[in-house]
Amino acid sequence: MKIAIDGPAGSGKSTIAKILSKELNLPYLDTGKVYRAFAYIAKEEGIDMTNTKQVLSLFDKAPVVHISVAKTEVSIGGKCLDVELKGEDTGRYASMMGSIPEFRERMVKFFRKLVGDAQVVAEGRDVGTHIFPDAPIKLFITASLEERARRRFLELSGVSFQEVLKALAERDKRDMERPIYPFKPAEDAIIVDTTGKSIEQAVEEVLRIIKGRAIKLRE
Ligand code: DC
Repeated sequence: MKIAIDGPAGSGKSTIAKILSKELNLPYLDTGKVYRAFAYIAKEEGIDMTNTKQVLSLFDKAPVVHISVAKTEVSIGGKCLDVELKGEDTGRYASMMGSIPEFRERMVKFFRKLVGDAQVVAEGRDVGTHIFPDAPIKLFITASLEERARRRFLELSGVSFQEVLKALAERDKRDMERPIYPFKPAEDAIIVDTTGKSIEQAVEEVLRIIKGRAIKLRE
């Protein structure tokens, strides 16, 4: 079984996806982290984002990705990257790369090859719509912009709330307006709004939905 979890930054999708991965004992794929790793390499190499050939050349130095329960590990040149990838600046760069059609298409193939026929809990912006459109369970986790910005603000250091709010609004807009695979819920995704909910409440709701869906699939 593949479980696709999409949603904007700060919606709680990563926390929910990791908990589900543990509960169901399935590997966890954070596609955003892989986008961020590519963005990190692009920044380091001074890649010109308007030059598609240069952007695609990044696949020759693609990060090594390893997925396991509640973990997506990415390493570049033998070095494991994690905190280096978390900032809003890398998120902005990743979002810009995600709007390049040829790059997106290659990324979809990259993720499909990585997972193959295995079961997985995968999260991102286009998992249910494009990476694994046949996933039997699709969730779209969302929350109000203010609440998402508040959550991100508490995670990051050295930035003001207003800066985070502006960065998230810009990222949402770019992701939703990109030319191919624009960010939106899959038609068969179940929408979960986590505004005003604790993580425990949100996880409880998601587990209830998944159990209900699994029972329906078995019928
Ligand atoms: O999930 P995240 O915030 O770490 O993702 C960072 C950016 O990467 C996001 O704003 C857009 C891009 N991204 C994407 O285009 N498609 C994905 N499946 C995951 C991330």
